[in-house]
Amino acid sequence: MKVQLIGLGSIGKNLLRLIGQKGNSIRQTIGENIEVVSVSDTTGTVITDGMPLTSIIQAKEGGGLKTLDSFEKISAKSAIADLESDIVVEITQSTKDGEPGIAHIVTALENEKNVVTANKSTLVSGVDLFKMVKEMKRSLRYEATVCGGLPVFNLMDYCMKPAKIISVDGIFNATSTFVISQMERGKSQSLARAEAIKRGLSEKDQRDDLAGIDSARKGTILHRRIFGSSLVLKDATISARESEISVGLRQITEVTSSGVKVGYEKIDGKSIYSNAVGPSMIIRFNTDIMDHLTLYTDHDGPLESAATVLNDIILSRSEKVGQ
Ligand SMILES: NC(=O)c1ccc[n+]([C@@H]2O[C@H](COP(=O)([O-])OP(=O)(O)OC[C@H]3O[C@@H](n4cnc5c(N)ncnc54)[C@H](OP(=O)(O)O)[C@@H]3O)[C@@H](O)[C@H]2O)c1
Repeated sequence: MKVQLIGLGSIGKNLLRLIGQKGNSIRQTIGENIEVVSVSDTTGTVITDGMPLTSIIQAKEGGGLKTLDSFEKISAKSAIADLESDIVVEITQSTKDGEPGIAHIVTALENEKNVVTANKSTLVSGVDLFKMVKEMKRSLRYEATVCGGLPVFNLMDYCMKPAKIISVDGIFNATSTFVISQMERGKSQSLARAEAIKRGLSEKDQRDDLAGIDSARKGTILHRRIFGSSLVLKDATISARESEISVGLRQITEVTSSGVKVGYEKIDGKSIYSNAVGPSMIIRFNTDIMDHLTLYTDHDGPLESAATVLNDIILSRSEKVGQ
């Protein structure tokens, strides 16, 4: 299967590494190669033509993609429209209005390509990409948009069919937990924040993590999916403030039929949330017949999200179009 990669940041580089490392075993499992045909960032596009994926990562971490012979100054949008591929992987940064991600996804669908994305902002802006997916008879997978490495939508799709989800709550943002738990160990907030950026945990604008925007995006995606709503980000109630970060708090998101709420709460030792230390995440589905089904990871970051994106690529290839 031919894949185009749009965005080569924390997730993109991990994804290329994983495809390089796991390519052979994936081929043995699914009987097909994952062939990355192009990689785009803000400077332009590399047409890979079979080059080792490690050389692309090296170029990105050195002088930039432009140092590669096959670099062309064509935009991601043109690359999606003009180059042949089956799947477009959209992993540019989340933004206020969902752009440029939405334009990339729309271009991919218009060109009859399936899409995999980790970019939350594309799904909460009000543009109904799923309507277009249906009309164009394509697929759009987005497992990594909510709680990165945790299998949230696959769990809902394959393990919870008979259950009614009454509400969902959890710690959806690893950066805020990481920063606060580093402070609980005596580190300064500024050092903890810098470390979160260094580890690739944070959004492009870290205030999105600490002021609850990132969690609200995730909550809104869940709300639309669980309750069939058309909520957009601005409908979420966000009481979390960057300035209130302090030890003993955790950033909690609640998704109920009436909406999405994000705020910092004091956590006592008996709470399930007291387990969240470091770059961890918790998501709890409160259901009618499956009790409080809870997923937890003690480490979520760009590697785990890249692994989820890779899983989506594999699922996307075997998916019938129009689903
Ligand atoms: N990091 C995580 O752990 C995590 C987990 C789950 C979901 N996500 C989501 O996944 C997405 C990617 O995250 P990330 O951490 O990898 O982001 P990132 O490190 O900020 O990387 C974003 C990439 O997008 C590229 N880009 C921006 N505008 C572009 C354009 N117009 N055309 C082509 N490329 C463009 C940037 O290019 P330049 O390099 O040239 O600037 C950069 O390579 C975000 O939407 C984020 O919300 C992240």
